[in-house]
Amino acid sequence: MMLVGCAKKEATPTAVATPPAATPAKTATPATTAAAPAAKTEARVIEITGNDQMQFSIKTMEAKVGEEIKVVMTNVGTLPKEAMGHNWVLLQVGTDVNAFATAAMTAKATDYIPPAMKDKVVAFIPVLGPKQKGEVTFKVPAAGEYAYICSFPGHFMIMKGTLTAK
Ligand code: CU
Repeated sequence: MMLVGCAKKEATPTAVATPPAATPAKTATPATTAAAPAAKTEARVIEITGNDQMQFSIKTMEAKVGEEIKVVMTNVGTLPKEAMGHNWVLLQVGTDVNAFATAAMTAKATDYIPPAMKDKVVAFIPVLGPKQKGEVTFKVPAAGEYAYICSFPGHFMIMKGTLTAK
């Protein structure tokens, strides 16, 4: 019932000048505005190798939607191209990889890219023989999981990976 303490407050009115309006400006951080880097894009390089054991050195890649990527592949093997050539084929999201690889077996003339399924290819590096190097630059079209394979006959079961775009 005693209200004595209230009366004392009037003594220091000017000292309460603490900055109250300074904080709300910070909340405007542009966390979701990732669409900015479009003008000065320099492709990000991803190096990959294929070898005589039918192995890609990289099985997973990650990218941002719209990002420009340059995949540089080297065939580090020594076996002849006809026996152990490697290409790199990035397929559209949702592509039937088995169907593509099966069709590719008879598409030697087009670097094992079956003409009938050309529209499934996002990017590719032609078949490389021993110590050869190839590259391809492309823009990641949309979010999703893209399979990449070597479509040289018999290789895709082992020579495959995934590029995840977010
Ligand atoms: Cu291969």
